[in-house]
Amino acid sequence: MQESTKQDLDIVVLAKVLKLAKPYMALFIFCLAMAVLMAPIANIRPFLIGTMVDDYIFVKDIAGLKTMVVIYLIFVVLNVLIRYAFIYYSAVLGQSVIKDLRVNVFKQVQSLKLRFFDQTAVGKIITRTISDVQAINEIFTQGVLTMIADILGIFAVLGFMFYHSWRLTLISLVTLPLMVLATYIFKEKVKVSFQRVRNEISAMNSFLQEQISGMRIIQMFNAEKQESEKFRKINRKYTSANLNSIEYYAIFYPVVELISAIALSLLVWLGSKGIWDSTISPGAFVSFPLYLNMLFRPVRMLADKFNTLQMGLVAADRVFKLLEREDYISDYGDKTVSKIDGDVEFRNVHFSYDDETYVLNDINFKLEAGKTMAIVGSTGSGKTTIINILSRFYETQKGKILIDGTDIRKYDLKSLRERIAIVLQDVFLFNGTVIDNIRLKDSSISREKIVDASKTIGADEFFQKLPGGYDFMLTERGSNLSMGQKQLISFVRALVVDPDILILDEATSSVDIETEAIIQYAIEKLIEKRSSIIIAHRLSTIRHADKILVLGKGTILEEGSHDELLANEGGHYRQLYEKQFEQSMI
Ligand SMILES: Nc1ncnc2c1ncn2[C@@H]1O[C@H](COP(=O)(O)OP(=O)(O)OP(=O)(O)O)[C@@H](O)[C@H]1O
Ligand SMILES: [Mg+2]
Repeated sequence: MQESTKQDLDIVVLAKVLKLAKPYMALFIFCLAMAVLMAPIANIRPFLIGTMVDDYIFVKDIAGLKTMVVIYLIFVVLNVLIRYAFIYYSAVLGQSVIKDLRVNVFKQVQSLKLRFFDQTAVGKIITRTISDVQAINEIFTQGVLTMIADILGIFAVLGFMFYHSWRLTLISLVTLPLMVLATYIFKEKVKVSFQRVRNEISAMNSFLQEQISGMRIIQMFNAEKQESEKFRKINRKYTSANLNSIEYYAIFYPVVELISAIALSLLVWLGSKGIWDSTISPGAFVSFPLYLNMLFRPVRMLADKFNTLQMGLVAADRVFKLLEREDYISDYGDKTVSKIDGDVEFRNVHFSYDDETYVLNDINFKLEAGKTMAIVGSTGSGKTTIINILSRFYETQKGKILIDGTDIRKYDLKSLRERIAIVLQDVFLFNGTVIDNIRLKDSSISREKIVDASKTIGADEFFQKLPGGYDFMLTERGSNLSMGQKQLISFVRALVVDPDILILDEATSSVDIETEAIIQYAIEKLIEKRSSIIIAHRLSTIRHADKILVLGKGTILEEGSHDELLANEGGHYRQLYEKQFEQSMI
């Protein structure tokens, strides 16, 4: 990217960041006011000391000197108070801004299409909501406000210096270009190496995240050694990136000291001549080394702050890009429903996840209200995809899906989803009790209702057996539950909302005979009295279906009842049936 356009971009992003502080305008102005006040108050001290030396110490005005010391102390205390207010309230400002921002980012992430999550790594999204937002905080606390304070401080010091002794000021400024140059070089070098550090951290984070999620597989396949080696490699790179950035600091600080020492030597050498020919007062001579410190310190710090600002802007740009994404599922439908009959029809539906390869081709079927349809087909044939588009997690490219004769896009998305319950192939459970997981934060669902629903499908007994029963705490993803238990939770979850359409993606994993019977019973209860679409793997479920759809490579191969399909010798269903179920029939 060209330098000029990049700078333009920075300014645009900075403007956007500052806009975030709009609700906290008063606080922002207060912090600015503190910065303005701080500049003279923090930098007046050398001037006071010089005055003490010239006007009181040399003339032995003891009473006057005492007053001066008191004034000096008052300024010190004032400085402490203002600095406190500045640091604390600019932090409050930063935190307030990012508190709002985090909520916005989270809301945005929640409303994005599933397609976004297919294409974006989890680690990336977490980085956006946590570290990148934190970096924006630093734009306020370390970046803009402190830089303004520092720059004002530099002008204040220069003002005092010129006022005090223009000769000594000119001598002091001789080394300033050197200082600015050193700072500039340092800033550029550190920027690159910080970028490296950040990249390495991010690499390490994603590596760890994947490793920890997949620990079971790694241990199962004895892959610890290779993985450790990979980790070592990443770790080495991270360490070297860190050392590289520290190296610049290690060079920069001594160089700064050297330049300060040169400046001081010049002051003493040329200044003493001034004292001898009385063009420079002893007070000024004493106070200039102090000024020098006050001048160089912010110049030196500006380098760091500029980097912080720039990194904050890079992060901000990424966060804004996420916030500006508009890939929502379009929700313009205005038909709200509190109850539907549950007629489902697919008319010439085509669908592709990536707009290139179609995974569903010309799907047509009709499910009448209250009936049960089973979908069977080999893995990857598009069964789950049918569910995904029916529940509008993804949008179809061609064709129409109708519920009760109305295009699903005409329904209000939320109200439609309330009438459809889905039990997914792999059950996802959250950290919390069994009750929490069934209720999913909908407090209108009472405990009694949950227990009733559990009894209906025969899961109550199962839950009662857990330590603490319904209040048993699930660990992340429900890893302290068996497959069967997890499934029962997801069934009750679906049942308590009393949906008009039930969609069930049966888990393929097999369970023991006893659990199998319980799940079978639960499914039968679940599909009673409502339209159901079941992606079935169990023969018993398939048999009970009013209609069976046989899917292959995204097209419907056959359609009919179990008996009808089975009668077709050489048909797909018959073949599938023979392959899959014959053994279990013996
Ligand atoms: N989120 C996705 N992004 C891109 N492609 C996908 C996505 N989900 C599924 N696919 C692809 O769509 C095709 C159909 O997948 P689908 O999940 O519908 O199969 P399935 O019939 O449910 O298989 P299984 O019986 O194994 O669950 C597959 O080729 C798969 O690679
Ligand atoms: Mg599937």
